[in-house]
Amino acid sequence: MSGIDFNTLPHQAFVARYAGVVEHSPWVVERAAARRPFADLAAGIAAVLADATPDERLSVIRAHPELAGRAAVAGTLTAESRSEQASAGLDRMEAEAVERFHALNAAYRARFDFPFIICVRRTDRSGILRAMAERLTHDRATEVATALDEIGHIIRLRLETLA
Ligand code: GUN
Repeated sequence: MSGIDFNTLPHQAFVARYAGVVEHSPWVVERAAARRPFADLAAGIAAVLADATPDERLSVIRAHPELAGRAAVAGTLTAESRSEQASAGLDRMEAEAVERFHALNAAYRARFDFPFIICVRRTDRSGILRAMAERLTHDRATEVATALDEIGHIIRLRLETLA
């Protein structure tokens, strides 16, 4: 741990330090800043998401990039996302594998209208592909809940990675 006490950081310093742990959704960290103190920061941020509206939660899901998707190809990922996708080798795949991801991403988005979310740091390329194929058979409520669980893992690992 860094020795920084997240419970006593001034509001703006807290937001600046932790905004990147929730992909393109600084409002989550703003709300968390105002709800301190927490025993556990990841749990505190998860509680903000749990208390947000369904539309707000959906917006956080939709703020995540597709795996090996357009933003990855264009090089416009956040630093956190780039390093997560690289951890599973998604930044160095042969064309056939990229096409497989694109086809599964498209099928998943067509069915659920949000991107497939899995905490890529907890798995690997074959685990991701297996999860994509299997989760495509689920209903929407199950996938919303799973995506939020996975985002909880992403947040916790991003917090652990912070210096
Ligand atoms: N989209 C699906 N999974 C992930 C992940 O682990 N990190 C990021 N940034 N985006 C994702």
